[in-house]
Amino acid sequence: MRKKVTKAIFPVAGMGTRFLPATKSVPKEIMTLVDRPLVQYAIDEARAAGIKEFIFVTSRGKGALEDYFDHAPQLEQELRKKGKTELLETLKSTNMESGAIAYIRQHKALGLGHAVWCARRLIGNEPFAVMLPDDVIAAEKPCLQQMVEAYAETGGNMVAAMEVAPENISSYGVLDISEEEGQLVKVKGMVEKPEAAKAPSNLAVIGRYILSPSVLQNLNQMKSGSGGEIQLTDAIAKDIEQDNNVYGFRFRGKRFDCGSKSGFLQATVSFGLAREELRDDLRSYLRSISLDENA
Ligand code: G1P
Repeated sequence: MRKKVTKAIFPVAGMGTRFLPATKSVPKEIMTLVDRPLVQYAIDEARAAGIKEFIFVTSRGKGALEDYFDHAPQLEQELRKKGKTELLETLKSTNMESGAIAYIRQHKALGLGHAVWCARRLIGNEPFAVMLPDDVIAAEKPCLQQMVEAYAETGGNMVAAMEVAPENISSYGVLDISEEEGQLVKVKGMVEKPEAAKAPSNLAVIGRYILSPSVLQNLNQMKSGSGGEIQLTDAIAKDIEQDNNVYGFRFRGKRFDCGSKSGFLQATVSFGLAREELRDDLRSYLRSISLDENA
């Protein structure tokens, strides 16, 4: 029997400089889409996929993240006193079972591969997920759940994949494809942020991974790659050289790049429109400004 994926790593050590000055004092992952921080969307998706242990790789200044997942007795008491049961219910999704969440510091900003490697002792010898909270995916069935189901059939390593425009491909890890079958793509190579002209395909890696522990061993020996950082992409590519399987998974859903301001705004509008209590107001506002180009 294949081991179940029950642990997920959330690399959240980045400084979020693209969102300065906000991120001077607020971790990027706490920035909100409508009324929930980015990280809550990732946690909900992980829970739906059966994840039981949540490992955050953090850095200095990310204290608000730890507080967010803590109980808030005073606030809860206050809400209870006022009979605000709905709000109390909302707060429940932010609470973690004691011992289910762990924080590890990445002491140096050496890249995504290094961040994942920092969690190696908590992973041990099991398959694990990696989720990048910047990539928010709206989907009928949450993306990681789709992947866990596909992984139950394939094993190996699996990365979420999506076609991107050629002019954007150099911002991503890119798949070199050997076979395609439905949503699954067998991968024969991977390159981190190639020049557009040298990209092996237009199929980009999106921030959801299911990885085997051999990738952590590869990270032990990894030297810095693209941008002078230790790249997760390179450690996964090395697994292919060692005859382990890597699959790209074309997920069903809409991905928002919330690491960019434009992506963040698009996600805000889209998640706002998805909320019944906001839909009508927001829609009529959007209609009014699309009629008035100067707004
Ligand atoms: C990271 C990964 C890259 C992947 C991307 C998805 O890059 O290194 O392979 O395609 O996430 O969002 P970053 O966006 O952190 O530079």
